[in-house]
Formats: sequence, C-alpha cells, structure tokens
Amino acid sequence: MDRTRDVAVIVGSLRKDSINRKVANALAGVAPAALKLSIVEIGHLPIYNQDGDDAPPAAWTSFRERIRSADAVLFVTPEHNRSVPAALKNAIDIGSRPYGKSAWNAKPGAVVSASPGSIGGFGANHHLRQSLVFLNVPAMQQPEAYLGGADKLFDAEGRLADESCRNLEGFMQAFAAWIEANGKS
Ligand code: FNR
Repeated sequence: MDRTRDVAVIVGSLRKDSINRKVANALAGVAPAALKLSIVEIGHLPIYNQDGDDAPPAAWTSFRERIRSADAVLFVTPEHNRSVPAALKNAIDIGSRPYGKSAWNAKPGAVVSASPGSIGGFGANHHLRQSLVFLNVPAMQQPEAYLGGADKLFDAEGRLADESCRNLEGFMQAFAAWIEANGKS
C-alpha cells in the first residue's frame, strides 16, 4: 500500500450514546496505519426528495462531495425493525443521486452491524448490502461482522475487551486488503 486510504465511516445511529458510534471509534483505533477513518455525519441531512435535485440543499452537495472524495466507505449500523435505520437510508439515497452521478459508485465498502440483541443487526446488515449491490459498491463478504450483545462490549471507560479488539482488528486488516484489491490505485 503506497499511500494512506481515506475511509468515510457512516454511522447508522444518530443517538448521542450510540453503541455503533463507539464501535466505529473502536474500528478507527485498531485499523492499520494505512487507513485513515473519519466519521461523516448524516443527522443534519434533509430528507431526500427528487424535487431538490435541480437546486440541492448545501448539506446534500457537501455530503456527496465528501463521499466522492473518499477511497472507501465503511458502514457501522444498528438495525431498526429488522432493516436499515431511516437516517442511513436517507444518506444512501442522497449520495446516489442525481441519476448517473452516484457518489457511491465503485467505492470499496464494508458493513458492520451492532445491536444489544443476539443476532447483531443481521437484518440491517443484509438489507444494506442489497442497496450496495445496486449502487455498485463492492462490499467485503468475509469476514462478516454482526456484533450481538453489543451493549456489553465496552467497559465503563468505553474500552473494548481484548477478544473483541482482536476481532475488529482482523476485520480492518481484511478491509485494508479489500480496498487495495477493489479500489482505485
Ligand atoms: C430498535 N432496536 C432493534 N434492535 C435489533 O436488534 N433489531 C431491531 O429490529 C431493532 N429495532 C429497533 C427499532 C427502533 C426504532 C429502535 C429505536 C431500536 C434496538 C437497537 O438495537 C438499540 O436501540 C441499539 O442501541 C441501537 O444502536 P445505537 O443507537 O446504540 O447505535
């Protein structure tokens, strides 16, 4: 890897104490040095409406530009009613338009889902992958990351247990290799 890769991290929760935001920060902490992770906020984005495409809100435009400039995208999301949270779907839709100018196109991607529940946001993880197929985001298949019981992963200081740390580290190493194999050189 001859240069640092800029990884845009999208957190699917808007909650202040979000478990998924903690997971995203933990992933940044264990990522190989060649990856620079930064969270791209989505909570302020106006709801997507195709009528806005002629004169898009500034927040849509800057979000699209930020995604377009990234080398890769990493989604870290909870599950809402067995699917993708509305705020995340809104961000995906905004990035995908105007038609033919999707900011997501060909960005290598990866998906992590986390939930206090035992199936670790599997439904959201896979509904998200369905959109990524259409958006031509090559999404890493293995290793998968469904973090169940995720409310118990962090101690009072917000630190991860060693075993979880190792798992996330392995995930990020695989993602770094995925970006090299599937991204722009
Ligand atoms: C949830 N939650 C939830 N959990 C789950 O495992 N499967 C689900 O389908 C749902 N559905 C759901 C819907 C809505 C509207 C809310 C608000 C919550 C619980 C969810 O996993 C929990 O609130 C997590 O803490 C959310 O992640 P963050 O916000 O902590 O990152």
